[in-house]
Amino acid sequence: MSKVRVAIMASGEGSNARALILHERTKPECSFTIACIITNKRDAGVVQVAEHFGIPCFMIPFVKRDEKDIVSELSGILKMQNIEFICLAGFLKKIPGAITEVFKQKIINIHPSLLPAFGGHGMFGRNVFDAVLKAGVRVTGVTVHRVSEEYDEGAGIFREEISVDDDETVESLSRKTKEVEHRIYPEVLEAECARFGQKS
Ligand code: GRF
Repeated sequence: MSKVRVAIMASGEGSNARALILHERTKPECSFTIACIITNKRDAGVVQVAEHFGIPCFMIPFVKRDEKDIVSELSGILKMQNIEFICLAGFLKKIPGAITEVFKQKIINIHPSLLPAFGGHGMFGRNVFDAVLKAGVRVTGVTVHRVSEEYDEGAGIFREEISVDDDETVESLSRKTKEVEHRIYPEVLEAECARFGQKS
């Protein structure tokens, strides 16, 4: 069975992108191959991750641009790279509807809370952990979900709980969350692509 060609879209450090690539590189029977990385930030850490692993990296600015220009540029890259599946890993811009429509069921995201709690516009990075601690909840977690036109609203695929300890800080919660993300995201993508690969 041929490997499903995946594009990672990311705006940040790229630790999840790295975990996905390492999974592919260390597991010969892996169902996917990371064909390219797409970012909206030239100085994002994920650009170095792409360089380190020799993966093509494309930069698409999202600010002060017409959505149709973004869609045309993004579609062009996805076509040129024969992308079959998109994996968002800390991509901070909304994915245009024209793209989510074409990639229906074939675009997923990972979020550092148990959605719908602590999701939506502005809920990323420290903001999420801050809100979790302020709310005083004892259990948070990670959610992998399909991507729709709205932030963090697509159907859930997988979630794992994380306990919030008495002495928890934003930093410790962020560390615990990343550990879970790096373990589960490659597994979820692996399962999604295995399923998708069988259909194509
Ligand atoms: C992760 O916590 C993920 O849940 C969220 O953005 C963060 C990306 O981190 N969507 P990194 O760039 O992969 O380190």
